[in-house]
Formats: sequence, structure tokens, C-alpha cells
Amino acid sequence: MLYRLLRPLLFTLDPETAHTLSLSALQHIQNSGLLPGRSFACKPRKIMGLDFPNPVGLAAGLDKDGAYIDALAKLGFGFIEVGTVTPRPQPGNPRPRLFRLPQAHAIINRMGFNNHGVDHLIENIKRSNFQGILGINIGKNFDTPVDKAAEDYLICLHKIYRYASYVTINISSPNTRNLRQLQNTAELDHLLHILKTEQTKLSDQHGKYTPLVVKIAPDLESPQLEAIALLLMKYRIDGVIATNTTISRQNLDHLPLSKETGGLSGAPLKTLSTQVIKKLHGLLQEAIPIIGVGGIMSAEDAKEKIEAGANLIQIYTGLIYHGPDLIRQSVEAICTSPHDG
Ligand SMILES: Cc1cc2nc3c(=O)[nH]c(=O)nc-3n(C[C@H](O)[C@H](O)[C@H](O)COP(=O)(O)O)c2cc1C
Repeated sequence: MLYRLLRPLLFTLDPETAHTLSLSALQHIQNSGLLPGRSFACKPRKIMGLDFPNPVGLAAGLDKDGAYIDALAKLGFGFIEVGTVTPRPQPGNPRPRLFRLPQAHAIINRMGFNNHGVDHLIENIKRSNFQGILGINIGKNFDTPVDKAAEDYLICLHKIYRYASYVTINISSPNTRNLRQLQNTAELDHLLHILKTEQTKLSDQHGKYTPLVVKIAPDLESPQLEAIALLLMKYRIDGVIATNTTISRQNLDHLPLSKETGGLSGAPLKTLSTQVIKKLHGLLQEAIPIIGVGGIMSAEDAKEKIEAGANLIQIYTGLIYHGPDLIRQSVEAICTSPHDG
């Protein structure tokens, strides 16, 4: 309700300024002890060995440095994913790099993994009081050649292993040159081999198994998706997030901002992402859980992702357009759906 009043004001601001301002205000209210905590319970679900209080999570990219975990936790998410974080800090692409397309209920971003680096993220996590499920999404620095990408993922995996409930391997952002090449069979085989071997070592070392999750693009052709599914099974990857933003601009030609380079999220991504979830569900046959994300703008959309085969969902752009009430509405819709559980 409050968000409905604030949104017109926020939408008069440059999108990145509105983003920073909203999160800082939320954190400020949290620090003053004035942010009422909300929690939405559902049927208990154990996925990847983790107990999720509800199936609705925050997608990566909103809190890249884990600077707002406690405040975001108060909104009632069942889990929170922070990042993408890279080994070294980097500024990301020059501004403007975030664009609202209100007529389409969409966003285009080419942030380019702006973040303060993995060490800073860890300091923020240590300072937070969050006891819930925390995913940490990792990537490579923009200037690391793609054939050396595995080293960046290894550095991050090592450092965050003990702090993460699960780790997401992001190989699908369109804003880091050649990153999506890591979805090709040979490259992905190599990367997953290295990361799975390291996970086994770290698990022994820490006496804690931290699941590995792979996040994929919505723009994959069927044969490529099939090859990815086989590799996920070969390496016993613990989960898959479908999907990241899209580079397609179907049906958006009439909007001038649609010409901006970057990843498109929100309503126009919904069907594309749901189709990937459906195909993956068919290929994986429930061997690997699916986290569905992309264009969830209403409770109905949330339910649709579960019906397509997702075990959990995440939201980002829907929060910008509809505010945190979307979390409660999505939990309620999923938890009363006959497809849930
Ligand atoms: C501004 C912005 C930044 C994002 N940054 C990341 C990121 O750093 N890492 C990542 O894996 N996904 C990132 N995403 C993608 C989201 O996590 C999500 O997969 C995508 O936006 C689709 O969901 P949505 O339609 O609910 O937004 C970003 C999305 C947006 C809008």
C-alpha cells in the first residue's frame, strides 16, 4: 500500500538513483528499529538439503554487495540471493546503465557486475544478523579472459563457501563480454568439473556441504539446453536457476528505450523463462531442483512458474513495479496451489 503511494515519486527519479535511495531508506528504517518484520509461512520444504520457510526468494543483482541483507530479510522472503560478486572490486559499466520501460512493465540493465569485491561482501555478511537461507551469486571480473574464468569462480567459491547456504554460478549475464560462452558444452564441462571437485574438497575441509547452483540464460536453443541439462546431471549440480535476463526485444520495437543494450527483465521475459523451466523440468525429471525466475509480476505469474516445474521462485523486477506486497501474494498463491509440494 505504502509502496503504491511512493512509486510515482520514485519513478520520477533516474532508475539507479531510485534504486539506491529505496534501499538506503529501507536500511535506515531497519537501523532505527522501525521496520516491522514480516514472515510468510508455507508448507515446509527441504530443497538442496535446505529448509525453506517459504518458496519466494529475492533474485540476484538487487543487493550485489550484501549491504542490505537484514532490511531485505524483514520483507518476508523465504530466501535471499546476494551478488553477483567478483574476486576484485569493479565499477561496472558507465551510467546510465539502468532503464525503465513502464509501458511494458520491464527493465533493461547493463550494470556489468558493479560490486565492491568478494572480501567486502563477506564483511557485510559477517555484520548481518540474518539467520535464513542466503545464496551467494558469483561471477568473473570483466577483464579476466573467459579461458581463465574458472580461476575467478574458484577464488570466490573458496572465500564464500562457509558463509553461503548455496552458491550460484552465474554464467548467463549478458553484460560481461563472453560470459555466456561458459554455457557452451566444452566450457561448461570444464568449469563444472573444476568447481564440483573444489566443492568436494571444501565440504570435507569445513564439514559443511554447500550446494552449487547454475544460473542460465533464457536465450538458449533447445540442443544447448539439452546439453546443459546433461552436464548438470553428470556433475550432480544441486540446483538450476532459470532464468537470467534476455537479450531479445520481441514486441518492444515501439518503445525507444528498447534499443538500449543490456538484459531485459520483467513482464516481457515471463513466457520465455517459463518455457525454459518447462523444458528443463522435462529434461531433468526432478533429478535437480529448479528455481524459476523471470517476469513474475503477480501472484498468478508466481503460480505459473511452479506449475511449469519450478520448486522455488525468485523475483526482482516485480518488486520495482509492485512493491514488497508481491512477496506475500506470491507465497499465498503458491501455497494454496494443488501443484505445490
Ligand atoms: C538491475 C538488475 C541487475 C541484475 N543483476 C544481476 C546479477 O548481478 N546477477 C544475476 O545473476 N542476475 C542479475 N539480474 C537478473 C535477475 O536476478 C533475474 O534473473 C532477472 O531480472 C529476471 O527476473 P525478473 O524478471 O523478476 O527481474 C539483474 C536484474 C536486474 C533488473
